[in-house]
Amino acid sequence: MCGIIGCIGHDDETVDVLLNGLSNLEYRGYDSAGIALKQDGIDIRKREGELDELRRSVRRDSDSLAGSFGIGHTRWSTHGPPSDENSHPHSDSLGRVAVVHNGIIENYQAIRDELRSEGIPFTSDTDSEVVPHLIARNLEQGADAEEAVRAAVDRLEGSYALAVIVQGTDKIFATRSDSPLVLGIGDGACYLASDVPAFLDYTRDVVYLDDDEFVTLTEDDWSITDLNGDPVRKTVQTVDWTAEETGKSGYDHFMLKEIFEQPTSLRQCLSGRVDELDRRITVEELDDLGEPDVVQFVACGTSYHAALYGAELLRDAGINARAYLASEYATSPAPVSPETLVVGVTQSGETADTLSALREARNRGADTLALTNVVGSTAARECKHVLYIRAGPEIGVAATKTFSSQLVSLNLLVEHITGRAQVDQSREFLSALRDLPNDLQHVLDESNAREIVDEYADKDAYFFIGRGLNYPVALEGALKFKEITYEHAEGFAAGELKHGPLALVTENTPVFAVVTGDGEQARKTLGNIKEVEARGAPVIVVTDGESEAERYADHVLEIPSVHERTAPMLANVQLQLVSYYMAEQLSRAIDKPRNLAKSVTVE
Ligand code: M6R
Repeated sequence: MCGIIGCIGHDDETVDVLLNGLSNLEYRGYDSAGIALKQDGIDIRKREGELDELRRSVRRDSDSLAGSFGIGHTRWSTHGPPSDENSHPHSDSLGRVAVVHNGIIENYQAIRDELRSEGIPFTSDTDSEVVPHLIARNLEQGADAEEAVRAAVDRLEGSYALAVIVQGTDKIFATRSDSPLVLGIGDGACYLASDVPAFLDYTRDVVYLDDDEFVTLTEDDWSITDLNGDPVRKTVQTVDWTAEETGKSGYDHFMLKEIFEQPTSLRQCLSGRVDELDRRITVEELDDLGEPDVVQFVACGTSYHAALYGAELLRDAGINARAYLASEYATSPAPVSPETLVVGVTQSGETADTLSALREARNRGADTLALTNVVGSTAARECKHVLYIRAGPEIGVAATKTFSSQLVSLNLLVEHITGRAQVDQSREFLSALRDLPNDLQHVLDESNAREIVDEYADKDAYFFIGRGLNYPVALEGALKFKEITYEHAEGFAAGELKHGPLALVTENTPVFAVVTGDGEQARKTLGNIKEVEARGAPVIVVTDGESEAERYADHVLEIPSVHERTAPMLANVQLQLVSYYMAEQLSRAIDKPRNLAKSVTVE
């Protein structure tokens, strides 16, 4: 999704700070980029394509480009294809205003028609371009810069994070509605961004903006007001992410680095929450969570797969629980009561579909909880309760370490909800959690995923199957695979194959089967493996060796024999590596897969 950066107070270094900020936002996904600098007038540079295109264009004029403050943007197309014209910043016809915008302005067509009928020419296909024209018209009508911006914002419907500079005013203005925006407070400089990594090289002190707040940044000050201009008191928070954590640390890709960070991120997730001596699980954040009768999870993509896992754990414990796709729930919510807990599972805490579903649930009277990675994110602020998964920054578009931390956090949540957290936890489960980071390290050290993918490149399609807690792992395995390899991959509940998908199975469709334990689900999955084998499909099993699955496999991806609740997490890591190495072999853009964005802030 689009990224915003703004900075004031860096004088001659402004261009570098803006470009560096945009580079740190690349992971969100983008197809063009641009900056606007306050000089005598406003100088705008923008280019379709990679950030290097913009860098080249800026470098050509580096002498003349030394503005004292500015704004920048990476665009992920919604209205109009990627092009120089459609890139941000957008301006009015006389170049007095520059605007960067994230989100979607729903009433842009009506505003555009109105402005065009007054003879105002448009140069792009975007919804965003109405904003600078509205501001410019307000200026012409006698408003000062701040009034002009406020009055323009007043006209907008939809979602937006906006940053604006106006000729003749040494200020950056910004506001948000349903789209993230965070302020960075540095030493003699201020920053604005859609996400903290954009300015993490300069400051870790941040203020998260809420909807309808209006920011004014000057060189040595910042202020936040509501839409009426009344001051809003905000707290400056210090984020614990460091700039080093958001670098690649020698790995070829963020995704690989994040896969290998999982033992550490799981330790962080569990730290101080599991007490083996007292046989307790303590999650302070959940202290005021009641005892819900019903739990509904809402989530998208990878987080939805985590939600399926969480719902199954709760059902196993006798609690009525179900996972919903947030995009569906938002327009077709399930019935709720005050005893219903709706849990938004969201790495970023900014996914528009998930926020929308959570708001729907809250408005209907349900209790809400955000299970998220990002402190201060919109989901964290809007939900009554929040449980942080503590995975650290995840930059690769493909979610990896955050999925594992979501699964662990869901275990903690389930123990809390079922009332088992405080008393006599099973020793077996506690030691499984304690051992999980080391078990995961073992999988990373011993995995043969890289060798296996060599044999299976260039097939027609790839299928992933599993049952019970391994069903979400199969879905996640397929999502990761298709996302970064661009090959056709589907995940199925193993028992569903015979109800249709089996028609697709041939000797050219490898099937990855996740089989752990030796219970009924494992035995039944063996039956499903035989079904695909009989149709000539190569079979790769991910297994702990407890069942006979290996006997029917062309290749085996081994995991240690562990607790039934942690085994799926280890199996998932093998599938993460399969996807990564296949994508590497196919030379895909692993960290920034085509058409995808890290944080999806539109519905
Ligand atoms: O930030 P969220 O967890 O709410 O994001 C939801 C999905 O967009 C996300 O999980 C997506 O499916 C993954 N990046 C895929 O790897």
